[in-house]
Amino acid sequence: MATTPTEAPDREAGENPLVEGLERLPVAPTTLVIFGASGDLAKRKLLPALYNLAHEGALPERFNLIGCARREQSDDEFREMARESIEANSRRDPDSQVLDGLLERMRYAAVPFDDSEAYPKLADMIEELDEEAGQPLSRMYYLSTAPEFFSVIAEELKAAGLHRHKQADVRVVIEKPFGTDLESARKLQKVISSVFRERQVFRIDHYLGKETVQNVLAFRFANLMFEPVWSRNFIDHVQITAAEDIGIGSRAGYYDQSGALRDLVQNHMLQLLTLLCMEPPSSFDADKVRDEKVKVLDAITPPTEEEVERGTVRAQYTAGSPGGEDVPGYLQEEGVPDDSQTETYAALRLEVHNWRWQGVPFFLRTGKRLARKTTEIAVQLKPVPHLAFASDGSVGVQPNLLILAVQPNEGVSLSLGAKIPGSRMRIRPVNMEFLYGSSFMSQSPEAYERLIQDAMRGEATLFTRDDEVIGQWSIIDPILKAWHSGKPAMAKYEAGAPGPPEAQDLLGRGRSWRGL
Ligand code: BG6
Repeated sequence: MATTPTEAPDREAGENPLVEGLERLPVAPTTLVIFGASGDLAKRKLLPALYNLAHEGALPERFNLIGCARREQSDDEFREMARESIEANSRRDPDSQVLDGLLERMRYAAVPFDDSEAYPKLADMIEELDEEAGQPLSRMYYLSTAPEFFSVIAEELKAAGLHRHKQADVRVVIEKPFGTDLESARKLQKVISSVFRERQVFRIDHYLGKETVQNVLAFRFANLMFEPVWSRNFIDHVQITAAEDIGIGSRAGYYDQSGALRDLVQNHMLQLLTLLCMEPPSSFDADKVRDEKVKVLDAITPPTEEEVERGTVRAQYTAGSPGGEDVPGYLQEEGVPDDSQTETYAALRLEVHNWRWQGVPFFLRTGKRLARKTTEIAVQLKPVPHLAFASDGSVGVQPNLLILAVQPNEGVSLSLGAKIPGSRMRIRPVNMEFLYGSSFMSQSPEAYERLIQDAMRGEATLFTRDDEVIGQWSIIDPILKAWHSGKPAMAKYEAGAPGPPEAQDLLGRGRSWRGL
């Protein structure tokens, strides 16, 4: 944990540390079909991620991209849109030769997602690319559309015979949200599994593509010293925070239907929780890792209505002036109904009922328009059992606190009690820190780069399995239902505040939220 700079890692670009030790699967020649190719996600994340993979030589030698969206446009118009998106959003300044090379491999197909006649044409296009390559290429369909089209597209792909191939791998990547509650997730899953086998399906949770999230596993399972304290015997409680300072921007249409609980807790935050709590898998094989994560979800009993009332807080932001800038309250945001009951903040207390974690409360909080953007896991250890120092020496002694900082200032810090220099024995906490920036001195790839590459390889460790997504919804569904019936009442917080005062009560006596 020292901060001494170490050498830049000798790592192949895009290498997944989670599968080290396993046979690395090659990236097969692939035709990637992006549904929703002119949408926001494609422009901001997917196309720039593909550019960066191309830049690193991490795309297969034979690679084609077919962009699909509803409206008619030519290949060249689509390429121009892709060029602009990459130039605006890539983490690197694009190199013109690499960019031109990638754009050349792009085509466009107008596919109204529910139009059965469009799919055979898409099939012809894919086959032409196979013929050009002189071999059947793997097919990967990326569903980056509004979620109501996920089932339709899957069924149309099946009707056109595009869901399987005798000689090539066929995979489907499904963006979030996978369902909007337990019932809709089950319904969607039923359709997906009537078309694809589970091993063909890659459900995205982009948090799993973040280096720092994967580091939770490296940290836990590559270091012996934490394992003995990683349990109810030594841990008092855990706080998981995913705070954002931004509002909802122009996403009112989506956000007002979703809210903080569905948008961040059901997926990203429960993923952080499972990685923190899971037992060590016998290997980093995708199913072994996911089996362990599912066991954690199974051990979280879905809360009763009464538990939701006592153990959760929902709130909306009101107008405020964070950083001196006046911003509207949620109900005044464009496109949000005046009487919206959608929460922009959610906090909850969960417990994992197994031997390791029984009795340890896990507090999760997330929200828009909070004081600052930060995502972190804070593991608060119990106090030492006995303090032998004279009373004034003991004043500054605090229980150890371990912070896994996901973003920004990615790293890990551990607070320890240390003697203040001087003739008296006085103690105060100091931090031992590891920071990604100074220790590795290399830029981390974007989550989507890792995930797209892993999906093309058929490496599913960093994707959510069917039982995992259902497990997540089983915990969230009763909360949604209780909130829908008005329990607990909607709290308020001023834009730029650390959250509503009610959230403090959730923690119980002697505990407080980490400052934002
Ligand atoms: C997305 C949510 O899944 O995650 C957004 O829909 C949120 O509302 C985003 O802003 C946060 O992601 P990140 O990577 O910035 O923490």
